[in-house]
Amino acid sequence: MNQATALAHPNIALVKYWGKRTGKTNIPATPSLSITLDNLVTRTSVRESERDQIEIDGKVVSDEKIEDFLVQLRAAYSLPPLSIESSNNFPTSAGLASSASGFAGLLTAIDTAFNLEMSVSERSIWARKGSGSAARSIFGGFASLDGESGDWCARGVLPARAWPLKVVIAVTSEKTKDVGSTQGMKRSKQTSPYYSAWTESTKSDHAAGLSAISQQDFSRLASIAESSCLKMHALMLSSQPPLFYWNGATVETIATVRELQSAGVSVFFTVDAGPQVKAVCQEDAADIVAERLANVPGVLKTLVCGLGPGAYVDQPR
Ligand code: DP6
Repeated sequence: MNQATALAHPNIALVKYWGKRTGKTNIPATPSLSITLDNLVTRTSVRESERDQIEIDGKVVSDEKIEDFLVQLRAAYSLPPLSIESSNNFPTSAGLASSASGFAGLLTAIDTAFNLEMSVSERSIWARKGSGSAARSIFGGFASLDGESGDWCARGVLPARAWPLKVVIAVTSEKTKDVGSTQGMKRSKQTSPYYSAWTESTKSDHAAGLSAISQQDFSRLASIAESSCLKMHALMLSSQPPLFYWNGATVETIATVRELQSAGVSVFFTVDAGPQVKAVCQEDAADIVAERLANVPGVLKTLVCGLGPGAYVDQPR
């Protein structure tokens, strides 16, 4: 029987993707840059079945994004009905990029189970059609999604081992977000007066981010990443109705990161469509950052990650 299991890790954007071009194939309106994490993982198994069934973290669900994705994939490849089982070792849909690892793993498992023989670029393009950020989780280490190649597949820009940064995630809520990224992006594009300034300024942030990564210039990358994050949240806040993803502990955690920076610790923050704060730091700063963030009132727990690999197939032992 055709079946396969794939493992994929979430990635955290340092230069953010928020907004889509008009059209159906999920082309981002902004270039983005990310790091793929190691300790958070999504495990996805697919097998041929009598009808489509999707199970996430042990519960059978109807998931419109996955259903739409299967419709698109079936228009290009002949695929039977599928049983899909996906589980995360971290909270789902809470701003921890579960859709990135989810679609990167799903596509990798389908490609293997049904011998579709996709190249890594084709896998990235297909993962992007499921969820924009998933294109980047096909790659490990530092990845860019920028449309440079014309077809909006991501590419690896620096391997994890070349610059082994750490990420301390301060989890401030495990609730599912009220407004998902797809819907939020649409709202920002339709209603924020800042939208065109955002898409324009992200181009230069992306170019500067690529150069900071190639020179491994931590303080430059820190200022580009914090600025991209804050501009994205300014755009979200200026949407109608406003997209307000932070809670009190998000703000307290950012203030603590800023105190650490003032004390000379190499760390910066970034926040996605949820209230968790990701503190990116140099390897030798991880212990102090994790200790300080764990003590911020409202932080439920901290997760410490290094940089991890791109999506891969779990080989049966
Ligand atoms: C804030 O990739 O989840 O995490 O393409 O609609 O599925 P869709 O959006 P998604 O958006 C990610 C938004 C972000 C920033 C980023 O990862 O670049």
